[in-house]
Amino acid sequence: MAMLIKGGTVVSTSGRRQLDVRIKDEKIIEMGCDLEVNEDKIIDASACYLFPGFIDGHTHLELENDLATTSDNFVTGSQAAVAKGTTTIIDMATPVRGNSLNNCLKTWNQMAEGRASCDFNYHMSLIEWNPAIKAEISEMIAQGITSFKMYMAYDAMRATDAELFEAMKEIKKVGGILGVHCENGDVINQLQKDYLQAGKVAPKYHPLSRPNVLEAEAINRYLTIAGQVGLAVNVVHLSTKESLEVVKRARAKGQIVYVETCPQYLLLEDSLYDLPNFEGAKYVCSPPLRKPTDNKALWQGVIDGEVQTISTDHCDFNFSNQKINGKGDFTKIPGGMPGVETRPELICTAGVMTEKISLERFVGLLSEDIAKQFNMYPKKGVIQIGSDADIVIWDPEQRDVISAKTQVTNCDYTPYEGFETIGKARDVFLRGVKVAENGKVCKEKTGKFVFRKINE
Ligand code: URP
Ligand code: ZN
Ligand code: ZN
Ligand code: ZN
Repeated sequence: MAMLIKGGTVVSTSGRRQLDVRIKDEKIIEMGCDLEVNEDKIIDASACYLFPGFIDGHTHLELENDLATTSDNFVTGSQAAVAKGTTTIIDMATPVRGNSLNNCLKTWNQMAEGRASCDFNYHMSLIEWNPAIKAEISEMIAQGITSFKMYMAYDAMRATDAELFEAMKEIKKVGGILGVHCENGDVINQLQKDYLQAGKVAPKYHPLSRPNVLEAEAINRYLTIAGQVGLAVNVVHLSTKESLEVVKRARAKGQIVYVETCPQYLLLEDSLYDLPNFEGAKYVCSPPLRKPTDNKALWQGVIDGEVQTISTDHCDFNFSNQKINGKGDFTKIPGGMPGVETRPELICTAGVMTEKISLERFVGLLSEDIAKQFNMYPKKGVIQIGSDADIVIWDPEQRDVISAKTQVTNCDYTPYEGFETIGKARDVFLRGVKVAENGKVCKEKTGKFVFRKINE
């Protein structure tokens, strides 16, 4: 079946133009002014923008850790994604200790295939480093996984500096990409112990046990090691002003560093941890929410181009029966928040509508530049002939109020309760098929694995 989207304004990082878009099967086959109407289906997009489907480069849709299992799985989390315009996610595949990467990949494919309503791929987490894991790095590339994730915090997963160094050398050999969770895990452990021993057990001690400098220090160490290896690297969920300074210094020395931040580090602040009735626990995530000065510095980074991508770190746990288990010990609050559903509306409202960023930049931050960084471009991340027909028809006038009552996300709260938004995905197409309309999913479980290939 062919389809013609008429009258919309196509936006990319290089500009915007009113163009009709013809789609056949899964692809965009023609674009131009006033295209001839000979289609089975015409869609009027006048007064709307056409964005390439948004890509979330950082989700944990079905994460099981020692405290809890995320309230979203691939079925519900991907529905939340497409409902508001995110057509592709890169989820964090996280192996169980002692398990092979191949086994982990199988597990993640089993969770995603036939269940996801958006397209998907994974960053493969390297939670330990040994000869067997090393041997699997090139096998991952051969199977379409071109990016890896490591942790400098969390006892069950964190790498030593030596392990980071060795893994980077191997990733460089195969042309892969590394992203690292940067926080000084050792010192955080000690701070947590100190607070708990002093009887300081409330959520507000979570950010105090993870101060800004412990992120900046870890980023500095990570970039120092990457500089030795000569590897271009990504800093995931960067959250502090000091961290951006560290990144700028490394760049000044000629290093290639990509920076991801998330809506929560732009829009929310650490005073939320003081909420009564344990509600501060809703905002427990790592790194923690920071201060207004950090929010401001990060927005400036987004504006200046120091920050390349905005993804979500979607990792949600219910407040009433999961977060609550940390009452009496903030280190037992499962860490993470929902985000995959709300990112486009939040960043459009707080970034585009306030004129901090242009529509073109918005597309780069949420789609095009993520596709480029993670080897999905131009299949994903752009509306052009030959690309997948992942298209969001965006109504810039549509207003909404974010609420747990109406969200698609399978979580009993939203960190953005009551936020008023301007601009909304009216129709969402995944490879030419309408999968959501006005915030409701209308076609489920058609998501596919996106095979990624290293750019030659
Ligand atoms: O607290 C968070 N963000 N949990 C998800 C895992 C991570 O650190 O990305
Ligand atoms: Zn025209
Ligand atoms: Zn992380
Ligand atoms: Zn994460």
